[in-house]
Amino acid sequence: MDNQRVLFVCLGNICRSPTAEGIFRDLLAQHHLTAAVETDSAGTHAYHVGSPPDRRAQEEALRRGIDISDLRARQIRLSDFDYFDWIIAMDSDNYSVLMAECPTPVQGRVHRLLDFAPDAGREDVPDPYYGGVDGFRQVFDLVEHGCSGLLRTIRQA
Ligand code: 4NP
Repeated sequence: MDNQRVLFVCLGNICRSPTAEGIFRDLLAQHHLTAAVETDSAGTHAYHVGSPPDRRAQEEALRRGIDISDLRARQIRLSDFDYFDWIIAMDSDNYSVLMAECPTPVQGRVHRLLDFAPDAGREDVPDPYYGGVDGFRQVFDLVEHGCSGLLRTIRQA
């Protein structure tokens, strides 16, 4: 496996995609792949640029042993489509925004996270922002499932 670059994308980059970045970098560390795979996350929208992950996302991650307090939100930029090998949308809306912005020759780099977890029984990681703590637990479980499948795919690529 050559060096790979992975970008996780949601709407605000404060709930789902930083959770995914934290889970994925933890998985990479477990597999001694930290040096081989670069990770980042971004939002399709600029609402929360510069903010740390939502407190509820941080608390749920920490409850599972993962610290995401160092992450800061940014918005997706055109150069991301050139730089990253894997651009991973959390839901179908994020996917549509990305595909509309992505240059045609590299559209194959854009995927939905749960495409890598077909047995999860759903296509989208639901937006937890306006819900309660249960939503953040569900997000963590789904993202963990998707990240495992994504890592398996990247290792085979
Ligand atoms: P995320 O969640 O896309 O998972 O970071 C959201 C965060 C903020 C908003 C919506 C979703 N918002 O509308 O501000």
